[in-house]
Amino acid sequence: MRAALKQLWLGLKFVLQALWFLRYSPYAIWYSWQRDRRDRPYQPTTTAAPASVGKGIQATPTDRGAQFEFEQASLELAFLTPDFVRVTWQPGRLPVPYALTDRDWPPVAVDLAEQAEGWRISSSDLTIAVGWDGGIAIGDRTGQIRQEQPPQRLGESWQHTALLRDEECLYGLGERAAAFNLRAPVTPEQPKTYQFWNYDPGNIYQPGTDPMYISIPVYMGLHRGGSYLAFYENTFRGELTLSNSAAEPRATATFEGGALRYYLAVGAPPLLMERYTALTGRSPLPPRWALGYQQSHWGYRTEANLRQEVQTFQAEDLPLSAIHLDIDCQVNHRAFTLDPQRFPDFRQFTAELAAAGVRVIAINNPGIQHNRHSNLFLEGQILNAFCTYASGDLVVAPVWPGRSVFPDFTNPVVRDWWSRQFAYLLQVGVTGFWHDMNEPAAFAAWGDPTLPLSTRHCLEGRGGDHREAHNVYGMLETRAAFESLQRYRPATRPFVVTRSGWAGMQRYAWTWTGDIVSTWEALRQTVATILGLGLSGVAFCGSDIGGFLGNPGGELYLRWFQMATFTVFYRTHSAISVGHRAPWTYGEPYLSLMRRFLRLRDQLMPYLYTLAWEASDRGYPPVRPLFWLDPKDETLWNRADAFCLGDALLVCPVLAQGLRSRPCDLPPGNWYSCWDDTHWTGGQTVELPAPLEQIPLLVRAGSILPLSEGEDLTLHLYPPALGSQGESQYRLYSDAGEGYGDSRLDHWHLSQQGQTLTLTWRSQGDYPFPYGRVNLHLHGPALEQAWVDGQAVAVADQVLPAAASQGKTFEQVCLQIRAA
Ligand code: GLC
Repeated sequence: MRAALKQLWLGLKFVLQALWFLRYSPYAIWYSWQRDRRDRPYQPTTTAAPASVGKGIQATPTDRGAQFEFEQASLELAFLTPDFVRVTWQPGRLPVPYALTDRDWPPVAVDLAEQAEGWRISSSDLTIAVGWDGGIAIGDRTGQIRQEQPPQRLGESWQHTALLRDEECLYGLGERAAAFNLRAPVTPEQPKTYQFWNYDPGNIYQPGTDPMYISIPVYMGLHRGGSYLAFYENTFRGELTLSNSAAEPRATATFEGGALRYYLAVGAPPLLMERYTALTGRSPLPPRWALGYQQSHWGYRTEANLRQEVQTFQAEDLPLSAIHLDIDCQVNHRAFTLDPQRFPDFRQFTAELAAAGVRVIAINNPGIQHNRHSNLFLEGQILNAFCTYASGDLVVAPVWPGRSVFPDFTNPVVRDWWSRQFAYLLQVGVTGFWHDMNEPAAFAAWGDPTLPLSTRHCLEGRGGDHREAHNVYGMLETRAAFESLQRYRPATRPFVVTRSGWAGMQRYAWTWTGDIVSTWEALRQTVATILGLGLSGVAFCGSDIGGFLGNPGGELYLRWFQMATFTVFYRTHSAISVGHRAPWTYGEPYLSLMRRFLRLRDQLMPYLYTLAWEASDRGYPPVRPLFWLDPKDETLWNRADAFCLGDALLVCPVLAQGLRSRPCDLPPGNWYSCWDDTHWTGGQTVELPAPLEQIPLLVRAGSILPLSEGEDLTLHLYPPALGSQGESQYRLYSDAGEGYGDSRLDHWHLSQQGQTLTLTWRSQGDYPFPYGRVNLHLHGPALEQAWVDGQAVAVADQVLPAAASQGKTFEQVCLQIRAA
């Protein structure tokens, strides 16, 4: 029976694919042929001989650095802060500053001196040596951190090489289906090239695929001498090649055009993220509901389907924050449409859902059907909104709606027009927007599935072609959506999701890791990909839980679900060609186990929301690599089979079938099991139980973990020291969860002196304390007695109930403890 069903399914899939082929392939063939013909002059030539920048001639100080003249090029060094410097080599056009936020950087005092080998320029934190040949060495007070060879011109391109140390690890580059340490697969015989070109890999995305939807030319380097971050502000097509020749491991960046402009920051990883996001912006604080569970499937064709789905969540007592509409809700896959026949009472329906606390998120793709009966097409044409060739002909390429044209989002007028299109979807009750196919993707029969390189773009009026505009296309599309939500819903916080993006995309949108396959290998890859995105400034991301392509089976879905409980974007999504997937799909015990994780997620909300606020305030990704806690511990540098959620939680997901325990590398410090308080000393590998109902989840000693219990808050105290003395602190952020009203920060300070723990509380901000009672739960040592502001109070089972209640705070709680 099973085999017959499988056969039937395969047959159906074949028919679906054949239909797809018949519908789109004639256009795809025509388009690919056209594109190749028009793009011939735009392909990179490999004939240009490398040209040096010549010899250094002179240096002139500026208010934050210096300007250097070389025989064939000029170099500007500009310190934005004493530990963060911008380097610009010209000739070449400067980038349109899409990546950057508006910010004034105060002048930085620097010293410039000439010496035998070139010049030396220093701030209070960094020293940069510029050689007569244009080579650059950068160091901090402890020594040299990075060495760069003189850059080279290859025709219109710049090529730039940094030397790497043997043990050096590199992370980031946006979204990569690669090892977390991007150097991990590089051998002396086999270099590895990562492309800077946003790309829809289609149905073949799996570990190893490169490039992916989001390429960002930023990476963090970590070696025994320290850590640094390098960001190339160049939107042109390019690549980074990592080679490991025994003599000189290196990282060579090449861009097909533009000036060679990059930024270097030196310091510990948190500081690097702070600097990078001060430059490119931080993710704005999302509405709190967005941190709840979201459900999606490509295949909710009707309002009735959606209603059924939401009702099952309610009936099964599963919390649900939002449900997503995919392209099958549209009329012929056309942007900004909803099929009125299949969604007859949509406005009423979204109102019902809103009353039940469920928001509706709608998909949107940039391709507009080339159709004279479509208003959107006509309006866009009148406005000259669509991308054209230099001849003025429209660029027409096939994508979901058939033959389509593409708004030029590098034109501010077009962004404004586009942002107005969302008004009606908002009116019918849609809350947020999910952007897909915005690499931009096109259906090509062969070659690159995107717009032709020869496509012209406005680039804020200065003009250019697709080689320069491609990588920012998706980000600018989401900027229009973000600005639309700001305009039409000024009292609420925008929720925008995007598949593609570039440096700075975090200012507008969240992302997810796209169309990954439903395999254990893909789950393992997902952890590394999310960690890499976080170190590229994209703090808010997640994955299609269970994978997009394939039917994962109960165990894989559960293990993916457990891992995703600790990532920011918590959404199940799956392809139209696979079975529908939701927490009840695989029956028991999976349903009950997922329900427990959904509850845990709810309990974690105060902690998670504070991490989201911290990301918006400092740029720290909530999901962090283990080395974030101790970058000097080399054993953690390559670890991507576990991650930290904030600084308190160590999450060790189960990443292979059938495992019921797994080894976990504990970063230095002391650790407690979140499940049963078992204690371990860090700096070692321990084998931890991982029955189906759990994954190893550890809390760092010294943490104060706030968990909500209905209306109440329980502060879980994990004392900093086991025995003698120590201290730690925690800041909890609260506000209304929506809008831009008052907020508050509650600071708790925990200190341990022998057998006494003292917890003090200080608050800041006008938002009233949002919890009923505050309970304290001590982990580790036995709790013997307690005093709240000097008054003795009863304790039981390690808990001091209602240390504060009804919005009142305490000043000081003293706990008498005994080593367990
Ligand atoms: C793309 C998206 C996927 C979506 C599908 C249909 O493949 O990545 O999430 O379901 O298009 O819109």
